[in-house]
Amino acid sequence: MKKIIFSLLVALSSVSAAQAADANAGKEKAAVCSACHGPTGVSASPIFPNLAGQNDAYIIKQLKDFKSGARTDAMMAPMAANLSDADMADLAAHFSGLPSANEQAAASASTGSSAETAPSSAAVAGNVEVLSSTPAAAIYAGNVAAGKNKAVACAACHGADGNSPAPMYPSLAGQSANYLAKQLADFKSGARKDPVMAGMVAALSKEDINDLAAFFAVQSTNAGTGESNEAGHKLYFGGDAKKGVTACIACHGVAGKGMKQAGFPSITGQSKDYLKKQLASFRDASRSNDNNGIMRNIAIKLSDADIEAVAQYITSLK
Ligand code: HEC
Ligand code: HEC
Ligand code: HEC
Repeated sequence: MKKIIFSLLVALSSVSAAQAADANAGKEKAAVCSACHGPTGVSASPIFPNLAGQNDAYIIKQLKDFKSGARTDAMMAPMAANLSDADMADLAAHFSGLPSANEQAAASASTGSSAETAPSSAAVAGNVEVLSSTPAAAIYAGNVAAGKNKAVACAACHGADGNSPAPMYPSLAGQSANYLAKQLADFKSGARKDPVMAGMVAALSKEDINDLAAFFAVQSTNAGTGESNEAGHKLYFGGDAKKGVTACIACHGVAGKGMKQAGFPSITGQSKDYLKKQLASFRDASRSNDNNGIMRNIAIKLSDADIEAVAQYITSLK
């Protein structure tokens, strides 16, 4: 009996918390969540849970647990760290009020529009079929020795071992095979535009792409030798709550090595020039091959000074 009364009290108190919460305020606060959980609470990738239509009390409990450390997750810990109780209640009210993933998919199917927000592992995998969400798939799909021969054509700009000799060319060494294969396929389809690379990939087959990706992925990266930067360090680790900028660490990791399974690239070993160019291109959407606008949504909120500072900081990552 005592237990029943207790759980009734808990249920009642969470109902009143939900009533006090402001879903509209929650919607604004959810801008930083959308990179991973999607603008409509339907996630952009199979590794991120959907939040749309979730129970609000459950959302609040999870956010509190991420904040206290009772539930551990490298991506959610920095997200929850800065949230107040009121923020959590507002966010929960927003997400719980959204139609569920199934409802959203049914609605877009019935209006005949393409289900852009529907979760789809194909969207995450990019344009190359071999890119399953299994981390090792692309590496094992490719042949490292064959890739080494084919990479002779790339050496002038990217270096024989994928460590680029000049600041305008990115390093490829140690980058995840999934990400490399996606970029090559994107240059080929025109989803990512670069006049030099368009010429390089035009004649590559799917097998060539897998072999090249496998070869560069197993080369070792040169450690960053740039100087650190305090403002850049802050942005990288903490993001900018006021502007709604998600911390870079959430996806690119503490040491900038990225997350292979999720298709988040390593950003270490790159020149400051290359990093600045990519951030500026995501910002003005001249680079738009990031699925669901995951990087464009972040870069659009960065000032020139932010880009300068964070690019400088990244060059110091070892
Ligand atoms: C960088 C990606 C990322 C961002 C940004 C992000 N999340 Fe998450 N979130 C995750 C991941 C990954 C998980 C799953 C964690 C796990 O596996 O335990 C998660 C889990 C959750 C859960 C638990 C869901 C469940 O079913 O258990 C909630 C609630 C949540 N996030 C809310 C938020 C809110 C609110 C924001 C914005 C303030 C946010 N997240 C921003 C990646 C992210
Ligand atoms: C003549 C110089 C040149 C040659 C040769 C060249 N590339 Fe590139 N590559 C570039 C430039 C420049 C970029 C950056 C484009 C941009 O700014 O978006 C690039 C970008 C890339 C990227 C994207 C890297 C990232 O971090 O997103 C990949 C992958 C790549 N090249 C692979 C190759 C492969 C494989 C070959 C050989 C088949 C090759 N490149 C040959 C100049 C070259
Ligand atoms: C929610 C996840 C996420 C967050 C947060 C994030 N990124 Fe990214 N970033 C990505 C993904 C995914 C790509 C690759 C997009 C593609 O497929 O081309 C990327 C690509 C990049 C690239 C281009 C890499 C290359 O080799 O061309 C740079 C540079 C970059 N991010 C810097 C940053 C910085 C700086 C921040 C913080 C201000 C940041 N990112 C925050 C997911 C994220």
